[in-house]
Amino acid sequence: MHELVLTRPDDWHTHLRDGAALATTVPHTARQFARAIVMPNLAPPVTTLEQADAYRERICAHIPRGCAFTPLMTLYLTDATTPETLIGAAASGRIAAVKLYPAGATTHSSAGVTSMDRIQPALAAMEEMDLPLLVHGEVTDGTVDIFDREKVFIERCLEPLAVRFPALRVVFEHITTADAVEFVRAAPHTIAATITPQHLLLNRNDLLTGGIHPHHYCLPVLKREHHRRALMEAAASGHPRFFLGTDSAPHEQGRKESACGCAGIYSAHAALPLYAEAFEAAGALDKLEGFCALHGAAFYRLPVNTERVRLVREPWTVPDSYPLGDGKVVPLRAGAALNWRLGHEH
Ligand code: DOR
Ligand code: ZN
Repeated sequence: MHELVLTRPDDWHTHLRDGAALATTVPHTARQFARAIVMPNLAPPVTTLEQADAYRERICAHIPRGCAFTPLMTLYLTDATTPETLIGAAASGRIAAVKLYPAGATTHSSAGVTSMDRIQPALAAMEEMDLPLLVHGEVTDGTVDIFDREKVFIERCLEPLAVRFPALRVVFEHITTADAVEFVRAAPHTIAATITPQHLLLNRNDLLTGGIHPHHYCLPVLKREHHRRALMEAAASGHPRFFLGTDSAPHEQGRKESACGCAGIYSAHAALPLYAEAFEAAGALDKLEGFCALHGAAFYRLPVNTERVRLVREPWTVPDSYPLGDGKVVPLRAGAALNWRLGHEH
């Protein structure tokens, strides 16, 4: 197979950041994807409809000419988010979903939710308004080992949530374990998951052997090979509740290559080639389109895109870095070859 023509896909989870970074992130994302769910973890976070509207404008100013790209905006849930805010956001039609970060779980999550009990009225409003909840699924309990935080989150938070709010649509974001795959498979059709390219392509050896590799550090952290295989099997199975979400999360080079490096892997420069490589290695290129372009749209109840993209099997070398504001970002596979490249649109 030398060429693949796919329905233009969507990225159901990305971090575009703000300010000068948008000049890099928005063109990378918009060239591949028709739509993207834009994470609200700016500093300060996007907690109101007005802030999301202003952020959308700043993003749209960087969409390259000739690219039809729609950012799908999200709100950041806090302990203080009121049902009225959520009802207004849903009624506007301009907010696609709401993101739950457990406080302290990851980058810019200090304003996140401190306990599930505090957000019960907010979740009830979202269920009522049919506004999807996007979840960073890791507990922050310091006594729980970092490699177990996703599994424990399922038991402590997601299972009770699914029982309490049976009609609430939930996306379990960037899943990293066989436990999460099992949970989603057994869950009702209201619960889906996104999977990143790094969790399909890498395991924790890629982070920790032959030296520490800060550009492979993200949260949830890479897990053992057994989990990577389970994720790849889920993605390659064609199951409609697993779909593409890159979690592309740029940090300036110095903030990654540091005594306390930030979590986040930048993959927006080559998201589709990276997924194509993972699916090819799994012998599942025939399942790539569903995962990239069909399952997410169905779950979000949005139309399937009508344009197409072309992937050509032709090696190219990823740059060592891209500009990011005043600095640089080191992308996934920096300086190395990728087998697939994006061709011209049909
Ligand atoms: O690795 C990560 N980076 N995980 C997250 O959950 C957040 C993200 C970021 O914003 O940098
Ligand atoms: Zn993320």
